[in-house]
Amino acid sequence: MAKTSSGSLFFLFLVLFSAVNPIFKGFASASQHKKLFFDRIFQFGDSLSDTGNLVRDNPIGGHPFMNFPYGQTIQHPTGRCSDGLLMIDYIAEFFGLPLLNPYLDQQANFTFGVNFAVAGSTALDTSTLMAKGIISPSTNSSLSVQLSWFRSHLHSLCGDNSNCRESMLRKSLVMMGEVGGNDYNYALLQGKTMEEVYQMVPAVVRAIKEAVEEVIKMGAVRVVVPGNFPIGCMPIYLSLFETQDSNMYDELNCLKGLNNFARFHNEHLKAAIGELRKEHPNVAVVYGDYYYGLTWIIRNAVSLKFNKDGLQKTCCGVGGNKYNFNLTRMCGYEGATVCENPNERIYEV
Ligand SMILES: *[C@@H]1O[C@H](CO)[C@@H](O)[C@H](O)[C@H]1NC(C)=O
Ligand SMILES: *[C@@H]1O[C@H](CO)[C@@H](O)[C@H](O)[C@H]1NC(C)=O
Ligand SMILES: *[C@@H]1O[C@H](CO)[C@@H](O)[C@H](O)[C@H]1NC(C)=O
Repeated sequence: MAKTSSGSLFFLFLVLFSAVNPIFKGFASASQHKKLFFDRIFQFGDSLSDTGNLVRDNPIGGHPFMNFPYGQTIQHPTGRCSDGLLMIDYIAEFFGLPLLNPYLDQQANFTFGVNFAVAGSTALDTSTLMAKGIISPSTNSSLSVQLSWFRSHLHSLCGDNSNCRESMLRKSLVMMGEVGGNDYNYALLQGKTMEEVYQMVPAVVRAIKEAVEEVIKMGAVRVVVPGNFPIGCMPIYLSLFETQDSNMYDELNCLKGLNNFARFHNEHLKAAIGELRKEHPNVAVVYGDYYYGLTWIIRNAVSLKFNKDGLQKTCCGVGGNKYNFNLTRMCGYEGATVCENPNERIYEV
């Protein structure tokens, strides 16, 4: 759900990279022999990382991500939820690898890894969410489905040969997320109370932890697990949960309650990562601090060349409110007006 423009994603990557850096302790300077770090990347997740799975998973059409401004700065829409590239694209480029192909692209070459992320997907299975009265509207390809694709992909390369699998994964980077944000987005946008959403955290974190355990069991030794953004800063929430009570806003003018919730999830996720490290001392499991990354961008937005009057505005909309958010005129939908310089805006929703 959370979408940011290419400019901001680039900076997010820089911040993320400092979190990823401990992985390379003991290696020579990162700028040389980058290719030696990893042969492959495997990405799991949602719209923050999907490079074209949803538009193939559910090809009925009408995907807003296939219309401008999506893909505007890379000439054509690819199914990425961005006007340009995504964090994972910059990560691949940094390591000297080609952009990751989406798993559902039958023609694609997966020599350098696979992107299993599907926009709109969740950490919990859609049936589990459904039992809580939460609908996953765009895809059923939740984390467990992506893991089954991963197993089947490994099987296609190595059959049942565990040495083949392990030696390949030893030289791979696994990006486990961001995932889980949509579980909460759907709950919040479908009218669940904050209390109900807080109660979902242990199950969401457990699903992510189990997914990491599974890739480790298959042989992965380097895993990045990103947390959630400060969702209280996103125009969609600022707009839908707008209130006159100034005590509800923090110093960045974001909704405190939602940011506290995102931090609560992140603290639980970090605790789970701590357990994983104890259980697997030879595996590098690293937390990706997207919360800090986006907060840093907001604090430094003006020097990063974002439009200072648009810091809490979506790029698309029809002047609905001060956040420029209009549910019927979001980016990619007919009748949406697109801001003049998407690069100057942080958010699409
Ligand atoms: C996939 O790409 C690799 C590296 O560029 C190349 O060696 C290989 O032949 C390609 N495979 C196919 C099936 O095109
Ligand atoms: C998800 O699965 C349910 C139950 O099988 C089905 O009714 C629904 O259409 C599916 N949703 C999508 C987006 O594929
Ligand atoms: C959203 O856009 C529609 C179509 O332009 C418009 O009729 C409606 O008033 C807008 N909503 C708001 C809250 O501005």
